[in-house]
Amino acid sequence: MAKYVIAIDQGTTSSRAILFDRSGSIVSTGQLEHEQIFPHAGWVEHDPMEIWEHTREAIGQALSKANVTRHNVEAIGITNQRETTVVWDKTTGKPVYNAIVWQDTRTQPIVDRLAAEGGVDRFKDVVGLPLATYFAGTKIAWILENVEGAREKAEAGDLLFGTTDTWVIWNLTGGVEGGIHVTDVTNASRTLFMDLTTLSWREDILAEFGVPLSMLPEIKSSSEVYGHASDESLLRETPIAGILGDQQAATFGQAAFDAGEAKNTYGTGNFLIFNTGEEIVKSENGLLTTVGYKLGDQPAHYALEGSIAVTGSLIQWLRDNLGLISSAPQVETLAAKVEDNGGVYIVPAFSGLFAPYWRPDARGAVVGLTRYVNKNHVARAALESTAFQTAEVLDAVNADSGVPLEELKVDGGMTANDTLMQFQADVLGVPVVRPVVAETTALGAAYVAGLAVGFWENLDDLRGNWQEDKRWEPNLDPAERDRQYRLWKKAVTRTFDWVD
Ligand code: G3P
Repeated sequence: MAKYVIAIDQGTTSSRAILFDRSGSIVSTGQLEHEQIFPHAGWVEHDPMEIWEHTREAIGQALSKANVTRHNVEAIGITNQRETTVVWDKTTGKPVYNAIVWQDTRTQPIVDRLAAEGGVDRFKDVVGLPLATYFAGTKIAWILENVEGAREKAEAGDLLFGTTDTWVIWNLTGGVEGGIHVTDVTNASRTLFMDLTTLSWREDILAEFGVPLSMLPEIKSSSEVYGHASDESLLRETPIAGILGDQQAATFGQAAFDAGEAKNTYGTGNFLIFNTGEEIVKSENGLLTTVGYKLGDQPAHYALEGSIAVTGSLIQWLRDNLGLISSAPQVETLAAKVEDNGGVYIVPAFSGLFAPYWRPDARGAVVGLTRYVNKNHVARAALESTAFQTAEVLDAVNADSGVPLEELKVDGGMTANDTLMQFQADVLGVPVVRPVVAETTALGAAYVAGLAVGFWENLDDLRGNWQEDKRWEPNLDPAERDRQYRLWKKAVTRTFDWVD
């Protein structure tokens, strides 16, 4: 009987289930998008019940498309949008509030309050992160401070917190009927609460945030059997054997297992991860320090990360909010009609600016407008903003590591966009390389689960699965590149100090 591993990818815009075979090839996919809820400017929410229902349906779709059952599935791996925060009542199984999404900036007053003493970097040496609205800890604090009755229930031990890996696993293993409450080191490293050295929760930091320890999941490695899918599930009795936050999963799926290897994922936002091996490297250049992966009892691997909040979601915004295009791929059609951006630069600081600036006071700007500019230039400028933001993050990685990257491995939806990938290589001045399986996020989750149950033997097995699909070589005059990059940086400064 054919055997597979199933990866559940609970992402920002959709929940997916993908079956992989031993060669790391996709056998079938199930996918459902969920609603993006924007109650106020800067607020972004998801409905956790919708996420769980869609996850179940996606599993059903993947199994039925491949015409297989749970008996063909050796293990389940979970990967997820990180930082997005769910708080639920363990006695009813119901969330006390919508999930607060990683892009949401409502917690800035909490950040300011905590930073009043010691500044935004006061916990950075321990947890690798600055105080910012991006991370889960501030979102848990907001729910406890603003949802009626939440603090009392939390103190009575009735509330549980989880990022969406934890939420999906709790439900998949039985929910109120005995669901397990776990996460892995990579997701825990995005809360502001985990000590990077000991890989355990810091009670002193929790006390500063007013968050009871009893709400937090148990921190596990990224690759071990945590439990089994419940009898209610289509995957009954199948071991859940891997968890990785989605950006770490993409790094693993790219087989970037060793120090010095890196990848850049083009999704809702962009995330460049640079593996630093067993060393915890502190960034001097605006990058985060995070856990890369931990396989069972082996030591953790760490990473530097450049997180960019808005890249693919800028294209969605052109489509949904401005109506400039009717479908996302159309942005390339428009951009290809002009030779350059016509002098236009778009800085999509919708959630402030993340790496390398960390400016919550920034808001988006379109600069360089003249009567000459048309919608094709705007489309091109939107695409270019992704490449420029990535260039700034890669500069930070090179400065921190001291050894410039000689090429960049890429993955994610926008890597299908040839104009963007060519411009990316042009702006970086190094080749950009895409693998055959561009679904590296789900693949990474399948890999850690498969390693835990012996579906794959070791990392060499996985390295052998990586194959190059396409390579873009830089092809822009360096003086012109420098001119455009300088203008981009000038445009970025125009977004600062916008919030009163
Ligand atoms: O940190 C946020 C990141 O994990 C979200 O990724 O691919 O769902 O946009 P994505």
